[in-house]
Amino acid sequence: MSTTLTWYGHAALGLETGGYKILIDPFLNGNPSATVSADKVAADFILVTHGHGDHLGDTVAIAKRTGATVISNAEIAGWLGKQGVKAHGQHLGGGHTHPFGYLKLTFAIHGSGLPDGSYGGNPAGFLLTTNDGQKIYIAGDTGLFGDMKLIGEEGVDLAVIPIGDNYTMGPDDALRAVKLLTPKHVIPIHFGTWDLIAQDPNAWAARVQKETGAQVHVLKPGESFQL
Ligand code: NI
Ligand code: MN
Repeated sequence: MSTTLTWYGHAALGLETGGYKILIDPFLNGNPSATVSADKVAADFILVTHGHGDHLGDTVAIAKRTGATVISNAEIAGWLGKQGVKAHGQHLGGGHTHPFGYLKLTFAIHGSGLPDGSYGGNPAGFLLTTNDGQKIYIAGDTGLFGDMKLIGEEGVDLAVIPIGDNYTMGPDDALRAVKLLTPKHVIPIHFGTWDLIAQDPNAWAARVQKETGAQVHVLKPGESFQL
């Protein structure tokens, strides 16, 4: 078995592992770099890092169409449940064994308000241990924090981190994040969607490869990486 990660633009990701299709932060309608449409994309599970519109995105519509279970923090899971969406609530530091692997919610420094103004709890990242034992860290929207070192101690195979600046870590702090996480592979996201978060991912990749042992994979929206 293997795991394939596809970047759909901005923070939207598709993860295929052990035959399961998992969407992460499926903001597709209104996402200028989206490469799939919300009314066609497949999903068995949807993971939502926090309540902001550019992450929650089309979660409700996709979950209703596909019957996918949405996994998020307890506040967002409760909000989704009220809209008739199947949801599984977890919280920071807590892990659960799902059919596709063991998923833990991790700390993130950010906000999490929902689009209708409801309280969205605390923002999160995800640390997934696949059924093959591969560890994938999806940071979510976050600033740099020192406890990334603790996540790194778990042995991260692939880290997916924001580099766009303004709303999240920019290139300098994202490089420091790689030093704390010590992953084998890194994929930068949350950049280039709008001018405000424009970055040169190849320049960043060159710095990371020079200063760390990580291999950086710069994807274009729609491209995949096989772990
Ligand atoms: Ni956000
Ligand atoms: Mn965001």
